Order: sequence, then structure tokens, then C-alpha cells
Amino acid sequence: MTAQMLPAGLCEKSDCLEVKWRPPGGGTQYFGDLLIDRHIRNVGRGKVEVVQCSVTGFGILLGAALGFAAGARGQEPNNPPPTFTKNVAPILQKHCQTCHRPGEAAPFSLLSYEDARPWAVTIKMAVTQRIMPPWFADPQYGHFANERSLSADEIRTLVLWVNGGAQKGAAEDMPPAKPDFVEGWGIPAPDVVLTLPKPFPVPAAGVIDYQYVIVPTGFTEDKWVQMLEVRPTDRAVVHHIIAYLREPGSNYFKDQKPGVFFTAPPRKVDEKTDTSALPSDFLVGYAPGQPAEILHPGEGKLIKAGSDIVFEVHYTPNGKLTTDQTRLGLVFAKTLPKERVLTLSASNGTFKIPPGDPNYKVDATFEVRKDVRLVALHPHMHARGKSFEYRLVFPDGKKETILSVPVFNWHWQLWYNLTDPIDLPQGTKIECTAHFDNSANNPENPDPTKSVIWGQQSWDEMMVGFFNLEFDARMSSKELTAAEGAVHVH
Ligand code: HEC
Repeated sequence: MTAQMLPAGLCEKSDCLEVKWRPPGGGTQYFGDLLIDRHIRNVGRGKVEVVQCSVTGFGILLGAALGFAAGARGQEPNNPPPTFTKNVAPILQKHCQTCHRPGEAAPFSLLSYEDARPWAVTIKMAVTQRIMPPWFADPQYGHFANERSLSADEIRTLVLWVNGGAQKGAAEDMPPAKPDFVEGWGIPAPDVVLTLPKPFPVPAAGVIDYQYVIVPTGFTEDKWVQMLEVRPTDRAVVHHIIAYLREPGSNYFKDQKPGVFFTAPPRKVDEKTDTSALPSDFLVGYAPGQPAEILHPGEGKLIKAGSDIVFEVHYTPNGKLTTDQTRLGLVFAKTLPKERVLTLSASNGTFKIPPGDPNYKVDATFEVRKDVRLVALHPHMHARGKSFEYRLVFPDGKKETILSVPVFNWHWQLWYNLTDPIDLPQGTKIECTAHFDNSANNPENPDPTKSVIWGQQSWDEMMVGFFNLEFDARMSSKELTAAEGAVHVH
């Protein structure tokens, strides 16, 4: 088929399985048909140029790319194609089902053959284009325990399965279902569930300020939690949630009544605002694609007796009147943890991104005050976020890049959990560098003609490098954080 321009998401040939296409303005070529719409959002709006449309050509190219002898449809001669029960189900269990099961983020389930079969061709495209599973770290830097990327072998198995007719296989080959899924949660059945006092009515349209509500834990003794998950009941209208901890005696929202929704007075952001310190009261957050927080045995987050949870929920209406009653589930540590985990951040609230700037750089630094260990990273930006990098600068001057997200996608706010925690001697600096694209070429940009500063709504920006530190459970968090004038980021 000769090159032609088609509106987003369309291929005119009815038997077409794969389209090779080029985004507006040229550049990278992509495969995909059903996926075009999404790529348009990611790569640039307008018309896409379809350069090839075929039922068969893809397998050859992919086969060559993955380095195996391939027939016309990427099939190895003399080898029976993989089957769902024997070869595919284990891959889906390992890499896909946390999201692709009822009640979770993905729009369809991949638990059974019957669930997965209609999606076979789309699965092939999504995994070969590495859209799925979502993962954005540059493999050059760092090793991450929760890395979801498929190996070349796993991709090949899925492709051969699809090319071979997406067969079911023998029932007895099916691996047992993953036992640790609890419907409605990404953690085991919680010991305690704290919910918004009542469903929040989300209108069909308009802009809603961040909603806050204080919910007392009622804990009469200190509690160590090992697993935490905060989640909406209607994901479609929730941009993000943060559950903050308010310890007894805290001044945070001290005049607000518990149990009622309120909005915070707007925080003035100007050149002098300093957010370089920390939200040391950050307990757990939710954003699309962000899984539950599951700490290792022996690690815990501390909730002191008499603490309150302050929920911050950002609702984004989507055309339908609805309600949401966000909830927080906690699984207590079975034994007293040796290590305490605390979420802190390096952030910068003083930037001003000029209109149209395609690559505006913002830096932030955090210096650790005690010997601690770094266990996880979580870059946070909004629609103009383009790339994000974390570096360590050790007291002896040694510098190391530990995470690079070269193409940031703000629809996926992921945590990157280090496979091996890194010792940070006192005086180590955690440096973060973000780049923002405020140009018209960024299809997510709500308005390239505006200067952009820190702010809460999604058309404002944020620059926060969250991270989890781990330290002796007997040390108080004050020792870690008291040194600088701590300013809340929220
Ligand atoms: C972290 C959660 C998550 C994981 C893990 C995940 N998915 Fe998805 N998947 C989603 C969501 C959410 C969507 C909806 C599209 C979107 O919003 O980007 C989706 C969409 C898809 C689509 C439709 C593609 C499209 O763009 O319309 C396919 C196919 C798919 N996933 C397959 C897989 C496979 C196969 C795996 C494992 C190898 C996997 N996913 C792992 C969350 C996930």
C-alpha cells in the first residue's frame, strides 16, 4: 500500500491486522491499528501517514528484530505454536494481571483464555511496541524490583501465540490462579479500611479544587503498616489522591473539623517560595498506573497513636455526574519492623516555564542528614513533564545516575523500587533534574502561550522527585528532617 494520509485510528482495509505508520511530521515509524488513537495523543495530533498495511508483513520484521528464523508469519518451522494455558498464562500472571483483572485500572481482564482471546492481536501490538506493560525507565541505569518489562523471549512467545492462531491448549497446563489477589485491592485483605465519610458528588463538568477531609484513625497505640493502598471507587474522575498523616499536636489544618470536605486556602507561589524541603507526612498516594505500596517484611511505615489521615483528592469531571468514596486500606506489619520507611522529596516550586519553551530545565536537591538507605523513586510532573532524572552525589564527590525517565508520560505516575537499596551516608545529595515541554508540539500541553508556575490544577505544573528512605525504626523522623525549615508541598 502506498503512503497515504488517514484520520487518526483508521485503516481502510478490513482484513488489516497491522499498520505501519508515521506520526505527523515524520520521525519514528510505528506499528498498530487499534493503537493509533493513543499514539496520536502521545506523539502529536493530526493526520498519521500510513506507509504499509498488511496481514503478514509484521511477523518477518519482528522475527528479524528478535533474532530468530521466521516464516511469513513469524512462525518457527517444526515447532508447534505456544498455547495460552502452557506458555501465555504465566506471562500474563507475572506482568499483566495486577492491572488486567476485574476492578483494576485496565479496561479489560486478562485472567482467562476467554478474557484474553478477543484481545490477542491488540496484545501483540501493545507488547511489541512496548506500550504494555507500562514502564519508562531507561534500562541503562538502575535495577528495579517492580520492573514490568517483558523480556525478548516473553514478547516472542506472545507473538508466536497470536500468529499461531491464539490457541487455548490443554486445560491441565493452566497454572493455578495467583493466590494473592483480593478483589477490590492490590494488597492482601486490609486489617483496617478508612474511607471518606460520605460519597463525594462529582459534577459532570467544571473545575474542582482539591478536596480535603480529615479522618481520625482511632488508633490507641502506635501502628506499623507494611502494605498500604489508597484508591478511588470511581477511577474515571480521580486525577490523584494523597493520604497524609497528621500526628497528634500537628498544626496542619488545625482549625478544620474532621469528617467534612473542605478546600485549602490557595498557597501563594512566587520566586521566594521554598518547597525544597519535604512533605514528611506523605503516607501513600494514588495516581493512574501506580500500584499499592508493599514493603518488604521487616520494613514499615509508622502511624502514631491518635493520628489522623488527611485525604487530598483531586477530582476531574468527565462529563457524567457521579460520586466517589475513596478508601485507604492498611495491612499491619506482623512483627515489629527493624526498618522504618518514610516518603520524602526533592522539589522545586520556584520555576517559571516560558511560553513555547520546548525543553525547560528545573533542578531540585535534597541532602540527607543521617546515614539512611534509598529504596524507591517516584518522579512527579504534570502535562508538560518531558523527562526526569535522579542522581546521587556522595560526600566523597562520586556521582551516579540512578534513574532516567527519558520520555515521561504523566498518565502513568509510577514508582521505581530499587532492587538493591543504596546506602546514603550523611551529606549525600539526591539531585533531580526535570525537563518540561511547553511548546505546541507537546500534544498534552493545555496552552503553549502561557507561562507556567507551580500549582495544583493539571494545567499548572509540579516538579517533585519523591523517594522512600529506610532507616533504623528507633530513630525519629525529626532527626532526619528537622534541620531545614520544612515546607509542605501541598
Ligand atoms: C500498571 C497497570 C497495567 C499493566 C501491568 C498492564 N496493563 Fe495493559 N493496560 C492498562 C491500562 C490502564 C490500559 C488502558 C489504556 C491506557 O489507559 O493506556 C491498558 C491497555 C492495554 C491494551 C489495549 C491497548 C490500547 O492502547 O488500547 C492491551 C492490549 C494491554 N493493555 C495488554 C497488556 C498486557 C499484555 C500486559 C502484560 C504484558 C499489560 N497490558 C500490563 C494497564 C496495565
